Amino acid sequence: MQQVNLGLIGSGTVGGGVYQAIQRNGALMASRLGVQLRVAKVAVRDVRKARAVKISPALLTTDWQSVIDDPSINLIGEFMGGTTTARTVVLNAFKQGKSVVTANKALLSAHGEELFAAAQRYGTNLYYEASVAGGIPIIKVLREGLIGNRITRLYGIVNGTCNYILSRMKLEGADFAEVLADAQRLGYAEAEPSLDIDGFDAAHKTGILASLAHGFWVNPKQIYVEGICAITQQDIQFAGQLGYTIKLLGIVKRVDAAGKPGSYAVQVSVYPALVPNTHVLGSVNGVFNAILVRGDVVGDTLYYGRGAGQDATASAVLSDLADAALDLKCGIKSRVCPFVPHERDGAVLPIGAVVSRYYVRLSVIDKPGTLAKITAILGAAKIGISSVIQPEGHEGKSVPLILMIHDATNANMEKALGKIGKLAAVKAAPVMIRVENFE
Ligand code: NAP
Ligand code: HSE
Repeated sequence: MQQVNLGLIGSGTVGGGVYQAIQRNGALMASRLGVQLRVAKVAVRDVRKARAVKISPALLTTDWQSVIDDPSINLIGEFMGGTTTARTVVLNAFKQGKSVVTANKALLSAHGEELFAAAQRYGTNLYYEASVAGGIPIIKVLREGLIGNRITRLYGIVNGTCNYILSRMKLEGADFAEVLADAQRLGYAEAEPSLDIDGFDAAHKTGILASLAHGFWVNPKQIYVEGICAITQQDIQFAGQLGYTIKLLGIVKRVDAAGKPGSYAVQVSVYPALVPNTHVLGSVNGVFNAILVRGDVVGDTLYYGRGAGQDATASAVLSDLADAALDLKCGIKSRVCPFVPHERDGAVLPIGAVVSRYYVRLSVIDKPGTLAKITAILGAAKIGISSVIQPEGHEGKSVPLILMIHDATNANMEKALGKIGKLAAVKAAPVMIRVENFE
């Protein structure tokens, strides 16, 4: 049977999981593919480090270049993370005519366009199923399964760490920092966890999905990003009373230009949003991810599974290894193109122009006339209020005032809240969380 010799660069949560999964299901894959996968070398930072997944010391090296240069190795797995050395690893592998499997969404976000072009130039391939949504095969879905659709909407819970934190804050009243520490212990969080909680990891993934869905490489600088650090127990509780759950969403929405048929821009953003409890994404909890994709032919489709952690990610990598092994077996280097830019004039909609509904929490002095001043500012900005909740308070004390706001642009809302925040009766910066209805 034909054999593919694999060089792994990195053997932490992901690389270790891949090594372990090949030991476990390599024979099954060989019987399905007619190709045997063999791990030939593993590059790590420290060969003496104690590892949860035991790897024969004979396979370990600290010299990743020697793995790439080894003529017996015909496929590289990049699982080291980061964007600088990892970029060199991938480019050097391509130069040697070797395809690469990666789980590195930060790398793709920063250098994807360059790497896909290089893969094509060198007649190699770049496989990246594990870069988005852990074990959910969403890259295959967009690249192959829904190839005949125009994607009009994509809503994703794509960061396992944030969903784990928000779920436990809601369901157990747990403390943010404690739950983040658990997510790190469980191998969900990035080496630099601010990538998770500040929304950047979700933005890397949302950008990859947007690029695939719309055929132009989305510049990460054009993605509007808000993380979950400002989400408080108070907002989680009020949202619950209103029938909503707060989720960090990656949103890719086609917005047609008024009066210009066929002309459109794409909203690509990441922010915490109020999701109706009755919507399926409202009940995706823990480390699970889910992605709703709407195609113009198929309608709504939904994908659900573990979004982070060793085994879920290893499963996605195995699928890429299978594709790569078949490509090598058949001598076709890019049977499945990694990314095909096809939309020349693709444009990202600036966040100011994005229209949505809002939850606003104000801290106000509970005295007559306060609400009138606030509604006057919103009214002058042509922003409509759909409901107001003011829990019973005491005259003269600061109390929360919750406003649910009808559709308005982000720019209008920011301006109006700026004015509201300056009112003498408003005692803290207004909290604004968008509300998503999945229309
Ligand atoms: P990790 O546990 O920190 O593992 C990183 C590995 O890379 C370690 O084995 C480390 O060696 C090795 N390494 C780092 N720099 C190296 C160098 N210069 N030369 C050789 N080896 C080097 O990270 P991870 O969680 O597995 O994540 C790896 C990648 O997968 C990242 O891009 C991440 O975003 C992505 N990802 C992670 C998950 C997840 O659930 N964790 C899911 C999907 C994608 P030592 O072991 O000696 O330190
Ligand atoms: N840190 C990432 C997450 C890993 O929590 O989703 C999976 O990409």
